[in-house]
Amino acid sequence: MKKILALTAALGLALGAAPAFAQTIKIGFITSYSGLNGNLGPYMERGMRLYLKEHQKELPPGVNIEFLIRDDTGPNPDKAKQLAQELIVRDKVNLLAGVIFTPNAMAMAPLATEAKVPFVIMNAGTAVITTRSPYIARLSFTLWQSCYPLGQWAAKRFKRAYTMVSDFGPGHDCEDAFVRASKEAGGEVAGTVRVPLVNPDFIPYMQRVKDAKPDALMVFIPAGKTATAVLKAFGDLGLAKSGVKLIGPGDVTTDEELENMGEAALGVLTVHHYSAAATRPANQAFVAAWKRDYGASETPNFVAVGGYDGMAAIMYAIKEQKGKLDPDRTMELLKNFKDPNSPRGPISVDPATRDIVQNEYLREVRRVGGKLANVEIETVGTAVKDPWKELNKK
Ligand code: PHB
Repeated sequence: MKKILALTAALGLALGAAPAFAQTIKIGFITSYSGLNGNLGPYMERGMRLYLKEHQKELPPGVNIEFLIRDDTGPNPDKAKQLAQELIVRDKVNLLAGVIFTPNAMAMAPLATEAKVPFVIMNAGTAVITTRSPYIARLSFTLWQSCYPLGQWAAKRFKRAYTMVSDFGPGHDCEDAFVRASKEAGGEVAGTVRVPLVNPDFIPYMQRVKDAKPDALMVFIPAGKTATAVLKAFGDLGLAKSGVKLIGPGDVTTDEELENMGEAALGVLTVHHYSAAATRPANQAFVAAWKRDYGASETPNFVAVGGYDGMAAIMYAIKEQKGKLDPDRTMELLKNFKDPNSPRGPISVDPATRDIVQNEYLREVRRVGGKLANVEIETVGTAVKDPWKELNKK
């Protein structure tokens, strides 16, 4: 009897170690670990890994996921294109995922189309990206989603607003969305300025804004260290004291930088789809898991949630196909992905545009339990579809 048991156990082990139908799904993951705001990549990767860890057991038997992780070194479309090409041609990945910066996503889009490799965007937020390949689905956000409702809200609250944006795709989108919404709602735009994407000196721009005496300054810059540089210049020049309210999409008060921003961040009002301070149970569980796995002093940000929800969509496509991925079927599944209970609230993908549909929250930076936090005050948009595509429907 003992012998038989031992034999069955050995057989079981052998089967478990190498099932006949073993299948490895390769995910080519490109994000930024160096260069401008290179601190953002690890948030995306850790979000993606956390989702996989929590749901690994749901994978079909014998299916493994392998991440092939690459650093695009910041906004660097040539590098992103080269990495994507290698991942497709040499490594034969089943999916592409990641990408902080719009120019990189734009450079990768034609490769996804040509090779029929589904590409799940976990950050890059310029509206037009998803129109560049039918193999793209975006699980992050668009700047129109935050900046359009922000403009509608700001027009009611402030008479004259100035805008300052980074001079690249998402900045142009945010400016366009904010200016259009403000004007439609009867607000006045005191001025607009675009600043270089990489290492701008914000002081002269802030001085120009101060001289124009607007009631509010709306800023979009990529999240990460650039946001802290904006807050520092805003604080140093005393704009708040001279009566200018700082507002923007949530990138400017990105959760992971709040402590580095200090007092200058207090009272900043933003519109965004995610705050680490949100009290939804799904978010509290997400933040607790993050701290458990990555350290008690670590806080997830919206990039982390992009990675987490992006992985949720990928896992859905894998589960539904029992691990045998067909690119067109994968796209059909991604188009119909839904999660009523994401850390950011209910989300879905709009099958017509392959862009995420989500709520937008008005938040204020306040001190909560001794720490700065983006406190959600109000839901200013429910199930918001990318407004740029809604307004430009043919
Ligand atoms: C983008 O390049 O699309 C981008 C980068 C950083 C952000 C938002 C958008 O915070």
